Amino acid sequence: MSSPVRPPALSTSLTTTPVHAASPAGAWWRDAVIYQVYPRSFADADGDGIGDLPGITARLDHLAELGVDAVWLSPFYRSPQRDAGYDVADYRDVDPLFGTLADADALLARAHSLGLRVIVDLVPNHTSSDHPWFRAALGAAPGSPERARYLFRDGRGPHGAEPPNNWTSVFGGPAWTRVTEADGTPGQWYLHLFDTSQPDLDWSNPEVRAELEDVLRFWLDRGVDGFRVDVAHGMVKAPGLPDWDGTTAMIDGGHDGTYGSEDGATGSGSAGPMWDQEGLHDIYRSWNRVLAEYDGDRALVAEAWVEPMSRLARYVRPGEMHQAFNFAFLTTLWSGPALRAVVTGSLEANDEVGAPTTWVLSNHDVVRHPSRLGLEVPGSRPNGIGTTDPQPDAELGLHRARAASLLMLALPGSAYVYQGEELGLPEHTTLPDEERQDPAWWRSGHTERGRDGCRVPLPWEADAPAYGFSPGGRSWLSQPDVFADHALDQQRGVPGSTYELYRTALHVRRERSLGTGSLAWVSGLRTTAGDVVGDDVLALVNRDLLVVTTVGGAEAVLPRGWEPVVTSGPTRASDEGGVLVPPDTTVWAVLRD
Ligand code: GLC
Repeated sequence: MSSPVRPPALSTSLTTTPVHAASPAGAWWRDAVIYQVYPRSFADADGDGIGDLPGITARLDHLAELGVDAVWLSPFYRSPQRDAGYDVADYRDVDPLFGTLADADALLARAHSLGLRVIVDLVPNHTSSDHPWFRAALGAAPGSPERARYLFRDGRGPHGAEPPNNWTSVFGGPAWTRVTEADGTPGQWYLHLFDTSQPDLDWSNPEVRAELEDVLRFWLDRGVDGFRVDVAHGMVKAPGLPDWDGTTAMIDGGHDGTYGSEDGATGSGSAGPMWDQEGLHDIYRSWNRVLAEYDGDRALVAEAWVEPMSRLARYVRPGEMHQAFNFAFLTTLWSGPALRAVVTGSLEANDEVGAPTTWVLSNHDVVRHPSRLGLEVPGSRPNGIGTTDPQPDAELGLHRARAASLLMLALPGSAYVYQGEELGLPEHTTLPDEERQDPAWWRSGHTERGRDGCRVPLPWEADAPAYGFSPGGRSWLSQPDVFADHALDQQRGVPGSTYELYRTALHVRRERSLGTGSLAWVSGLRTTAGDVVGDDVLALVNRDLLVVTTVGGAEAVLPRGWEPVVTSGPTRASDEGGVLVPPDTTVWAVLRD
């Protein structure tokens, strides 16, 4: 069990409030830093302008050098790519765009030889409409076993011309599409919480459960270390599929920064008969048993947009999943009190069930955090940014993003890094609209720009065509000119670069076992004027490290004797000789004897 929190001796004018105790070393996923690879945009080996598995394998050294523990691969399965592979037509094969099963095996072998674990994406809420099951369902009659794998229903109103209920799709528009029956007449409707090409499976059907468990085994047998489970809060729907007047959004507006307030709302819409139903937990208990048959601490990670945090923690109770993405942290505004509340609330809720807390700032579904933090409301979360939208302040956004990342990497638990964030990559906010491929762009009637701007291929070399992404110089989405400054070869070995900041932080995090460490808030730090700092300065101790993050224009002076070991930005000596932490900066400091 946990040991008591024993923060190092601080100056007598400082007090600590313990939140989370250190834990002994355990399964790898409890404190892992996991790097998300988005295969189509990481590295292209065959020159078609779309990243692929051999491209990833060839660049795995980069991840080992960076110092992460594991890689999560977004989907690379056979798919018509209507939602960038989150529409799977064959769960047991690699899409020719990305390579072959042999390429997947080679990737796993190379990763393991470098000491990196590999998690793959599992998309169990829906298949592609090209999946053989859905094709069979279309060709079969209402009431047939083929249709019973999906959620086919008769329509309402005269001739069944109205959808079975009023649900809308997460990507916009209705969540139901009507099919034409074999005799040419307008027929039943099928449910798709996402695109029309992503029909929802019926998880009350034992055949569906058996099939997906078999898919788990297929990949476990090939050696994967776990699964990131897509839409893990959506597979089971309330009986009778009742109408719902709320929005069906997973990703809507911004967090109001009031996490931990009475409503604790992130605005991510997890209420409703399509989300967070009790029946999900039985599925995860049986998956847990499947994974437990295999050696090596295989893990299940929930992509579940569920709130409040106590509700999310139910997915990671003993015998269920192992981790859940902490979207409350990702959606919190750049505000000291809001960040403090979300960190405390996350650790407390997960400690209740004995699970590690995860931390994440960016992924393939949200505007990259250097851009979000440069917006007028820092940390707000538009669904994409286009040329005609207000543009982020790139410099300020990156400055804050480095502070946010360094805060994240100091926190106990497991952290997720989205490809390119180690380069400080901004969102592509001027991507031409005609290049957009996210179904959200056209399903919303061009009101939501969607997620293409965070999915632009990575820059490896400033002077190479497509910045070294593809030998042919092609790139499936055009890269903005500013990517040249962010290319890996411009940052590697350059003191102060974002890449070197991540590398150092990951090294120190590992060396000092911060992932299994403790957290206590520290109060009583002073400003240069000698006043006690306000709520916008976050100060915490994890093991023997003091971590100070200044938010919203606040400054703080490190207590006497503490010296920086990692800083997200420049610090300077205060008039009294202590180290001054300027606004929007994180410092990791140790006490010198
Ligand atoms: C998840 C994925 C997202 C995808 C959706 C539907 O939210 O992260 O990219 O569009 O599920 O599968």
